[in-house]
Amino acid sequence: MKLFSRHTVCVLGVVLTRGALTQAYRIKDSYVGQDFYNSWTWETFDDPTHGRVDYVDKWTSMNSNLSYATDKKFIMRVDATNIVSPSSRGRASVRIISDAVYSDSVTVLELTHMPEGCGTWPAFWSLSARGPWPKGGEIDIIEGVNKNIRNLASLHTAPGCTMKPFRDQSGMTVSTDCDTSVNYNQGCGSSFIKPFSYGAAFNMAGGGWYVMERSRNKGISVWFWSRGDYSVPWAIRNGSTEFMVNPSWGLPDAHFSIESCDYNSMFDAHRMVFDTTFCGDWAGADWPNSECGSGTCNDFVNNNPRAFKKTYWEIDSLRVYT
Ligand SMILES: *[C@@H]1O[C@H](CO)[C@@H](O)[C@H](O)[C@H]1NC(C)=O
Ligand SMILES: *[C@@H]1O[C@H](CO)[C@@H](O)[C@H](O)[C@H]1NC(C)=O
Repeated sequence: MKLFSRHTVCVLGVVLTRGALTQAYRIKDSYVGQDFYNSWTWETFDDPTHGRVDYVDKWTSMNSNLSYATDKKFIMRVDATNIVSPSSRGRASVRIISDAVYSDSVTVLELTHMPEGCGTWPAFWSLSARGPWPKGGEIDIIEGVNKNIRNLASLHTAPGCTMKPFRDQSGMTVSTDCDTSVNYNQGCGSSFIKPFSYGAAFNMAGGGWYVMERSRNKGISVWFWSRGDYSVPWAIRNGSTEFMVNPSWGLPDAHFSIESCDYNSMFDAHRMVFDTTFCGDWAGADWPNSECGSGTCNDFVNNNPRAFKKTYWEIDSLRVYT
């Protein structure tokens, strides 16, 4: 305390009595419709998670209508018309990454539809701009596979970041070691309990809002509100330019605390990513338990284009506040 002047101590006291969990955020960047073409990069490399996917470039995605923008929407889909040759790289899809990087911030995503279906593995996430992975961390906000209807939010980090099983979250702890080098890179994850958080259930309910706060003082939290949920904070619902993250929001669906995870050394500035892959390390591994079919995941993805009609992101807006 010697470092603080009397005045500083007093100011800290005021902040604490008004509630250490309250902090004002102001809009930094807003992405709607065409903004994704201007401020995001199409990634075309081989899927690092070994998916049966062919990530196409921006020009190809526009020409084949795999990406599509209006004034109000940005849509990213996968090829749902062609049979894929086993010798090709995989089914055509899109993976985009933000040019901007963000440290402590709140990210608000309003979605009407997310990719669903057997063989799919969509994700909305962020990763260190500097890396190399897993240095600087990875935050998975929306993720799931096959017929899942519950979202899984998780962290993947360098060694030394763990979570207690019981934390201030409404979701259920699935795994507690965030270190990518243990448990086959399962990371530390929380499965959502609220209904309609993922896949066909999310889409049937008309989508909703995902909010992720990352803060060196509070850790990382993810909230979800379904389209028809009246408890969505109005500032989130109407995209206001400024708001407080406060206890009236209720418990986050997933919370990753800083008790046994050194936020400052595990997480640096991140870029945001949307992608849709197929099979691979997770959807492929889950396939035998997914009730999706008796053949292999890769064969299903190659041979059933019509199964992917609902495998698309329909993004209303993505806003980042600092
Ligand atoms: C491209 O996709 C959009 C959005 O789904 C759709 O409205 C439009 O008709 C499609 N265009 C073509 C040429 O298929
Ligand atoms: C957001 O809600 C506030 C308060 O109800 C209202 O005054 C404002 O016009 C709304 N803004 C938008 C963009 O809908």
